[in-house]
Amino acid sequence: MSKFLNVLTASAVAASVLATPVMAEKLGLGRPASDDEIAAWDIDIRPDGQGLPEGSGSVMDGEDLYMDQCSVCHGVFGEAEGRWPVLAGGDGSLSDDRPVKTIGSYWPYLSTVWDYVHRAMPFGDAQSLSNDEVYAITAYLMYLNYLVEDDFVLSKENFLEVRMPNEENFFMDDRADAELVAFAKSEVCMSDCKDNVEITARAAIVDVTPEDADAREARAARLGVDVSEGDEEASATEEEGAEEAAASTTAEGAEQELDMALVAEGEKVFKRCAACHQVGEGAKDRVGPVLNGVMDAPFGHVEGFRYSKGLLDMADEGMVWTEENMAEFLKKPRGYIKRTKMSFAGLRKDEEIAAVIEYLKSFPE
Ligand code: HEC
Ligand code: HEC
Repeated sequence: MSKFLNVLTASAVAASVLATPVMAEKLGLGRPASDDEIAAWDIDIRPDGQGLPEGSGSVMDGEDLYMDQCSVCHGVFGEAEGRWPVLAGGDGSLSDDRPVKTIGSYWPYLSTVWDYVHRAMPFGDAQSLSNDEVYAITAYLMYLNYLVEDDFVLSKENFLEVRMPNEENFFMDDRADAELVAFAKSEVCMSDCKDNVEITARAAIVDVTPEDADAREARAARLGVDVSEGDEEASATEEEGAEEAAASTTAEGAEQELDMALVAEGEKVFKRCAACHQVGEGAKDRVGPVLNGVMDAPFGHVEGFRYSKGLLDMADEGMVWTEENMAEFLKKPRGYIKRTKMSFAGLRKDEEIAAVIEYLKSFPE
């Protein structure tokens, strides 16, 4: 529940603080935000429909968009690939030991689906969807949860007619009053208590959402535990990383000289790839294939990885990854490979592209 409230209030608060010229004056800092700036932040959609833009989208259109941009992680039927979040099913499981909380089984309001998808998805390329696309995908997510038929069209106009199955189980927090009454009436039960309380597991070290090496290290420091995943490359400091890479290239007798400063830059850029790709020793396929040895390799170089048809077609033509076509691909993945499964907007700066390519070169095998 708090997740929903936080999403709603955070942007509302941001908008109101920025909106007061008085604050800017009082603090002697900055300037009042312009209406446009406020509008750019003020994107929350509320359960009563406040904030919804004009627009509409059908289940059918939503299906195409979903297959292209969401199914790699969330599964063709919303059942999820690997440990990415499940988006459909779980009906009636909320009282189980392991409830499956999905949009259909758990989420109280459709407005949160619209808001979340619009705000945060697809992961790695957030806010790239148009309003109509978000309506269409939201309609499709309802369809996946058996809430509507396949000819349904969702729009601003009919949005509030939709009621989510679990809405009733969300209500205003009345503990302040309700508990007072309960405590006043009855003897508090304190029998059979455990003598000592012991922490047996920490939710924080369960790897739910993939994160980059920095976040992992910060968390390790905070918890005072070792959470390394065996990818020393990722957790090594920059210098160490650079040395290691240098050592490994000489060891492997690669002919080309690497620009180690550029490799270090590239390692930073690679954090944006790391949600989906791994490199180095022990690297595994995640959402994207392992990228060891990808430079100079044929397209689709990882055996057993399920590449898109677009990429496989290019592989069939005998395409090989060079600095030139890699740069073109990384600038605009969807422009370079038709309907690629890599849902990543692309790197805007040429320097970043050059750096990350140099970094990829430092993993020749
Ligand atoms: C690269 C993988 C990836 C892709 C592609 C992706 N998502 Fe997600 N999605 C995630 C992750 C990771 C989370 C959880 C984020 C978190 O909790 O911080 C998530 C969470 C969600 C949630 C919330 C689930 C819940 O119960 O909390 C929804 C809804 C969602 N995604 C919809 C979409 C839609 C729609 C698309 C396509 C437009 C999409 N996602 C594309 C990875 C992905
Ligand atoms: C949201 C997940 C995601 C992100 C982020 C991502 N990729 Fe990918 N990448 C993929 C997927 C999925 C594929 C497979 C593409 C296909 O089959 O069309 C892929 C394919 C590739 C390939 C082709 C590999 C081969 O074997 O031919 C390269 C190279 C690549 N990505 C590099 C990068 C780099 C560099 C970054 C960061 C700048 C990055 N990717 C960011 C998911 C991602």
